Amino acid sequence: MSDVVEQSAEYVDFWNDVLAPKFIRFKHVLVDGLTHHSAAVFPDLPVKEGDAALDVGCGFGDTAIQLAERVGPEGRVVGLDCCAAFLDYGRKDAAARGLGNVSFAQGDALLERFTPEYDFVFARFGTMFFSNPVGGLRNMRTALKPGGVMTHIVWRDPADNPWLSMAKQIVLDFLPPPGDGAQSCGPGPFSMCNQETVSKMMEIAGYEDVTFTRVDAPVFIGRNIEDAIAFQLAIGPAGEVFREAGDEAEAKRADIEAALGEAIGAQKIEADGIVMDSSSWVISGRNPA
Ligand SMILES: C[S@@+](CC[C@H](N)C(=O)[O-])C[C@H]1O[C@@H](n2cnc3c(N)ncnc32)[C@H](O)[C@@H]1O
Repeated sequence: MSDVVEQSAEYVDFWNDVLAPKFIRFKHVLVDGLTHHSAAVFPDLPVKEGDAALDVGCGFGDTAIQLAERVGPEGRVVGLDCCAAFLDYGRKDAAARGLGNVSFAQGDALLERFTPEYDFVFARFGTMFFSNPVGGLRNMRTALKPGGVMTHIVWRDPADNPWLSMAKQIVLDFLPPPGDGAQSCGPGPFSMCNQETVSKMMEIAGYEDVTFTRVDAPVFIGRNIEDAIAFQLAIGPAGEVFREAGDEAEAKRADIEAALGEAIGAQKIEADGIVMDSSSWVISGRNPA
């Protein structure tokens, strides 16, 4: 895999230029929040000692590191992401844990030319952003050995993910929805919520034995109400509405923050912060042997 992306797609520039600084600011919410969720998923992943695994859209690298611990010194893991800034976190964390079996590379999962060298390909909350979902899923399959398994985790319906949808509804009480020309990082967090559609995508992408497992688990959305409000206005569907509304959003910021504060204040508050419900599909498919 190449270390440098010479020519990038618009969504790659958007991840690097617009979203990366926001993700880095809220790394504590994203990593800890999603870890809450994937704690329910990881134990059942079909990955074993000695496996070669690829983590697509690995972000800060925490799942690549967990996979590296799981495959052990006889195995190896590559974390792939189109956003350069995230990969440095993974490299530093892996070095701090003394893990020599995980590496990180910059690349676009849609365009990367893989060789069929992996037993397991994984993606946590990355495939929903593929501008060409079937093309991306098919390309991930080309990284699998015959008989290898790909597992990706995607969000289910907005109604079952109030941690993302509640804030969007509130922000839309004040601001217009993003227009057709809105800058974006791809189709978005709910683009793979429909089981029937994604089943067909997996089939067209060439996977066999496709399974869907629903996982309902809490996510951490901020250390306190202020942190959670700032997170919602920076990232995700509410953040997109706010960002696209520009000056109008800034002019209404105080009212929007007050409305969000009221709704977030009514959520469950645990020792380390505010927690809300979330729901995902864990989708697995096998590369034909
Ligand atoms: C919501 S984040 C999830 C990150 C990480 N998997 C996690 O669970 O914390 C989505 C990640 O996918 C990456 N990504 C999006 N489209 C990509 C593509 N076409 N190729 C590689 N990475 C991509 C983004 O840069 C980002 O790090």
